[in-house]
Amino acid sequence: MENYYNYSLCFIFILILLFLTKQNKSKPKLPPSPSLWTMACNLRALMHAPHSTLAHLARTHGPLLSLRLGHHLTIIASSSITAESILKTNDRDLSGRVIHPSYQYNLRGFIEHSLVWSQPNDQWRKLRRILHSELLGQRMMKAQTWIREKKVVEMVKGLKERKEGEVVDVGQVVFETMLSLFCELVFSCGLEGLGMSGSEFKKDFWRLLELMGMGGFKMEDHVPFLVKLFGGGKRDSDSVEVVVNRVIGSWEGIVSKRRSMGSGSGSDFLDILLGCGLSERQINVLLLDILIAGTDTATTTIEWAMSELIKHPETMSKLNQDLQQVLLQEQEQESHLPQLHYLHACIKETFRLHPPAPLLPHCALESCQLMGYKIPKGCQVIVNTWAIGRDPKVWKDPLEFLQ
Ligand code: HEM
Repeated sequence: MENYYNYSLCFIFILILLFLTKQNKSKPKLPPSPSLWTMACNLRALMHAPHSTLAHLARTHGPLLSLRLGHHLTIIASSSITAESILKTNDRDLSGRVIHPSYQYNLRGFIEHSLVWSQPNDQWRKLRRILHSELLGQRMMKAQTWIREKKVVEMVKGLKERKEGEVVDVGQVVFETMLSLFCELVFSCGLEGLGMSGSEFKKDFWRLLELMGMGGFKMEDHVPFLVKLFGGGKRDSDSVEVVVNRVIGSWEGIVSKRRSMGSGSGSDFLDILLGCGLSERQINVLLLDILIAGTDTATTTIEWAMSELIKHPETMSKLNQDLQQVLLQEQEQESHLPQLHYLHACIKETFRLHPPAPLLPHCALESCQLMGYKIPKGCQVIVNTWAIGRDPKVWKDPLEFLQ
């Protein structure tokens, strides 16, 4: 009898064990992660060049990897298939943003109105709709053609007036042209109408990009004590607040004056925003978002394109031929753009090698599965666009600027 009892217990125990093992096998796991030793060896590189270090780790551990740094779990996607799965297939679950807790306190009144940093809620959808229909939509793009052409003509004229041999800071010239374009579209005035110079704006925008971690991955958010140990960058949320207020302060007088005048007729973007019933804070934060997002991306892309063209004189001369054939002594106009195929190819190649946003920082709003792996709710999900453009499985000579 006792034997029979022992056999039954053993049998039940084996059944439970089998059940648990099966459960564990069928349960999706986290994506593979580098060993602690590998992480320790790469810590310094991760702090200084996160996009290339993460690309290097992906080559050994696969295109979807998980990193646990401090309390935070981060999933990194480094191939076009994993990126598509995050940005398209699972966009609803993975379109959140992670904000470091210390910022949430100091930047109240900023983050919740920001298109870049707020979670995708009703207000975010409303602001995005306004931006896409009233500034970036096809109808508006067509209506604003003359303003963009005017700004380009002014930029070219300014460059032609330079003395031969004079050094030109391409980044500064393009940045000021973009900023002046946005001033015209938003406020119907030139850059001189705002309370700061072009170089002051550029300095503050860069500082904000650095402070807010727009690069997508900041070690100091995960393991602050290690960063202190290695003497890494300092993330001071108070400075973010100071810079945000200084930049917004350069135009907030225009916004409140326009509101008190009872504008809302839709003659420029500010009028449209006032007519949409947005608060002054909402308008100012939205303007900060688009000024930074619109100027920095164009400036870095053109700087990289110019430096690749200087490094590749053959490409430069092919591009010159393309431009001369199409323009035929005419003044450059946007209607010429569809015929400039080689220019398009050069810009695409610049985006491939030097994406203006090398790491896209997202966050899992809900748990979901990605390529058979588990993505837990709340973890950070980063798409490494820099690694995707240089993926040796996709590109023959990934590091070459193809001609
Ligand atoms: C070279 C041109 C540009 C490139 C390559 C570019 C690229 C990007 C990328 C990669 C993102 C992040 C998407 C994500 O996290 O999934 C983004 C977001 C954003 N961009 Fe741009 N962008 C460009 C120009 C502009 C311009 C001209 C504006 C505004 C006038 C703008 C406004 C925004 C805003 C507001 C966001 C955040 C909200 C959102 O995700 O929709 N961008 N951009």
